[in-house]
Amino acid sequence: MALPPTLDLFAEIEELKRSRKAVILAHYYQDPDIQDIADFLGDSLDLARRAKEVEDAEVILFSGVHFMAETAKILNPDKTVVIPDVNAGCSLADSCPADELRAWKAEHPDHYVISYINCTAATKAESDIICTSSNAEKILRSVPEDRPILFAPDKNLGAWLVKQTGREMDLWPGTCQVHVTFSERKLCELMARNPHAKFIAHPECEDDILRHAAFVGSTKRLLEYVVNDDAKTFIIGTEAGIIYTMQQAAPDKELIRAPVNEGGQGCEACGECPYMKLNTLEKIYQTLRDLEPRIEMSDELLERARLPLERMLAIS
Ligand code: 13P
Ligand code: SF4
Repeated sequence: MALPPTLDLFAEIEELKRSRKAVILAHYYQDPDIQDIADFLGDSLDLARRAKEVEDAEVILFSGVHFMAETAKILNPDKTVVIPDVNAGCSLADSCPADELRAWKAEHPDHYVISYINCTAATKAESDIICTSSNAEKILRSVPEDRPILFAPDKNLGAWLVKQTGREMDLWPGTCQVHVTFSERKLCELMARNPHAKFIAHPECEDDILRHAAFVGSTKRLLEYVVNDDAKTFIIGTEAGIIYTMQQAAPDKELIRAPVNEGGQGCEACGECPYMKLNTLEKIYQTLRDLEPRIEMSDELLERARLPLERMLAIS
């Protein structure tokens, strides 16, 4: 049912946070209104750590995508974890169903499986260790030299890691449908028109984009780079939602979105993630009011998926 247009969603959400003993964790790709009401904003690694540390609150509302909310539930299973829209998926998670990974492992029993956190709980349960874009290099360097490795599901992050470390890996053929939309030709034109701008990018971008980057890192690292680097102008090669966060942290810097390929449709034509953008203040209000939809999974899956996540946290 449509909400009354006069409802003050900011005030109502604050009230529900108090009455439900709820905390809102949000990713940097959320809309500005959601970033403003969040109790904690972060990249995948910090959000996972924060979810695990939640003690006093009884409810975690996760405003991000489904695999992130699942991760919160796995790391803090006694809390009620809710998500504003269950359809907030991820093309990387979709690319690597657990049964396909299980079948691959059966044919390659010696491989050590590093899975990027952008995968389902069931896929995590099939993995030896999890990584995020913040800690991927450290996690990879922790694997014994004599073990062959499968890196799933992001082949672009995997290829970037191979370049950084010289360590060969088999790469699962998944990609982020947002980060593969940046256009190298348009980026080069933009850089030529802005010779003093620094281009920085997320490692989910393709190699033809990453090779132009002065810095490659997770969303949090990109944010820190903009704040700490001396340059005044930056071209941002990641989902556009983070530009709001960056501009607040560095109000004197000029931030330009990296250009996307022609022919894109919907959110992706603007470099936005259509899944992240399913979350709205209205849905957050309804979710806190009804405490639905919830993230639920069997105890067995919780346990199996927790092991590779805890291995990651122990190393990070
Ligand atoms: P970060 O861990 O860098 O925040 O990345 C999450 C993500 O989904 C990037 O597309
Ligand atoms: Fe998944 Fe890409 Fe969206 Fe991140 S931006 S949640 S990797 S589809």
